[in-house]
Amino acid sequence: MKSFTSNHTPKLHNLPTSIFTIMSRLAAKHNAINISQGFPDFDTDPILVELVAEAMRAGHNQYAPMAGIYSFREAICQKIDSLYGATYHPESEVTVTVGATEAIYSSISAFVSVGEEVIVIKPAYDCYEPAILANGGIPVFVQLNNIDFKMDWEDFRSKITSKTRMVIINTPHNPSGTIFSPEDMHQLQDALKGTNIILLSDEAYEHIVFDGLTHESVAKYPELFLRSVICASFGKTFHATGWKMGYCVAPIELMKEIQKIHEFNVFSVSHPMQRALTEYLKTPDHYLALNTFFQKKRDLFLDGLKTSRFTYTPSQGTYFQLLNYSKITEENDVALATCETINYRKWCGEYSNFGI
Ligand SMILES: Cc1ncc(COP(=O)(O)O)c(C=O)c1O
Repeated sequence: MKSFTSNHTPKLHNLPTSIFTIMSRLAAKHNAINISQGFPDFDTDPILVELVAEAMRAGHNQYAPMAGIYSFREAICQKIDSLYGATYHPESEVTVTVGATEAIYSSISAFVSVGEEVIVIKPAYDCYEPAILANGGIPVFVQLNNIDFKMDWEDFRSKITSKTRMVIINTPHNPSGTIFSPEDMHQLQDALKGTNIILLSDEAYEHIVFDGLTHESVAKYPELFLRSVICASFGKTFHATGWKMGYCVAPIELMKEIQKIHEFNVFSVSHPMQRALTEYLKTPDHYLALNTFFQKKRDLFLDGLKTSRFTYTPSQGTYFQLLNYSKITEENDVALATCETINYRKWCGEYSNFGI
């Protein structure tokens, strides 16, 4: 039988399989604990699950409005106002999305056209680059320092050109676990001054910050606020990554454009889950207690590593902890993690009862 050939040039031809897919497959194959992907191994709060069931029983099973149900949008805006002192209007400046991922994709699609540049800070969460490429944009990379994963703001400034349409930041940062300080935010604000560059701020881990540090939302910085789209994830925040519930907020002129993409790609997002999250957000402790909750887990994890040959700087936020393995081998990280070579097989054998 002949196969179909469309003679098209693939839009995303150079993208490798994501490391999350590779490591998750390997973890399943070897029956290993999968600590390579950002999702929790404990249950979603039963109260939240029950709220979804109640909403379904109450008949909220048909399409929600395009931007999300009003009471949910209101709850999101109130939360942001109380945490960061910024006012977004529920009517026109918030959209409920299919996870932070859809918020990011819709924002990039809304603003980035063929040949325009988008500054991405590397290492980066893996959905930014494909979204830029799919829209004909050009990713321009700024590398974080490989010792402490801090930004080189001089380097950042040097990458801004007349073609720069957007900058993407992510704090707390996946995968380094670092967070932007107020000084970083001022550097960013100064670097963007006088330009019409849009800032996309991925704040999926806003409620996972450790050691008494604070999350620096762009919503706190008036000049950044005006040019920014903030993307957030209820999946991450409420241990329900499989629900793919998120949102974005932005000043009205930006939000209008994002909604044009969202409306004709997704239209609207799970109605009963929106009802449930609206109720759940009425108790701020559900998200305010998370820093302490996750810090205990980070501390336990690091405690378990104390006697190993890994070295580390404790993560400042997120689910992630980077480890330095230079005392173990000089070869590359993927080979070490996948035990691909004979040396690694030997090493993995030695440490198969690693106890973490
Ligand atoms: C930095 C970052 N942004 C966004 C997402 C995606 O969030 P969601 O599952 O809500 O689409 C992730 C998921 O791992 C992430 O790490």
